[in-house]
Amino acid sequence: MANEWGPLEGLIGEWESDTGGLDTAFSHSQDKVLGSSYKEKCSMKPFGPVDNGSQSLYGLDYKSAMWRGDEENPFHTEVGYWLWDAATGEVMKGFVVPRGITVLAGGNADANATKFTLKAALDDPQYSIGENKYLAKNASSLSYVINITIGDNSWSYDEITMLRMNEFDEPFAHTDHNTLRRVS
Ligand code: HEM
Repeated sequence: MANEWGPLEGLIGEWESDTGGLDTAFSHSQDKVLGSSYKEKCSMKPFGPVDNGSQSLYGLDYKSAMWRGDEENPFHTEVGYWLWDAATGEVMKGFVVPRGITVLAGGNADANATKFTLKAALDDPQYSIGENKYLAKNASSLSYVINITIGDNSWSYDEITMLRMNEFDEPFAHTDHNTLRRVS
């Protein structure tokens, strides 16, 4: 039987990866598209319920950070919440990327699903992306899609952020994927 966190139950905990993460992004300093392997740490703490009138949500408070090689400071971080609405089967991931970007991605899943997909788009009325004025002009996040797969004491994500960048005529696929294993 599903618990209050539905498909998010398998994400509760402290997680780490080795250097198996892979990021593809345009590097301004090297003026080319780079694939970078990375390691990651991620913390997911359960909370709930949060009630909005008749809506009752359970969630995970999360932080994640990624490092390339031996660098001291992470090259990417996220803070946010994963949310589950059992009445509608909606899963949401709301987070901030400290470039001045906020994302609320959403999708539907069964309570005991081990695979699900969340999406956001710049102009979507519900699941949208907010960005600062510089990025809107120079490197705008058009859409975000994340596929999640939950295993035994591990989980994986595969995500694509489509960027409209001044450097390219066509939208550029900024991609990331990794598998994390439970450390506690
Ligand atoms: C694991 C997840 C992610 C990693 C490791 C990552 C990493 C990177 C890296 C290395 C760059 C290139 C910076 C440079 O050298 O100039 C970059 C650029 C960028 N990322 Fe990400 N990113 C991730 C997820 C995201 C997400 C989810 C979004 C938005 C929803 C995002 C939006 C951007 C934007 C807009 C830029 C372009 C900045 C510019 O060109 O000035 N990234 N990212």
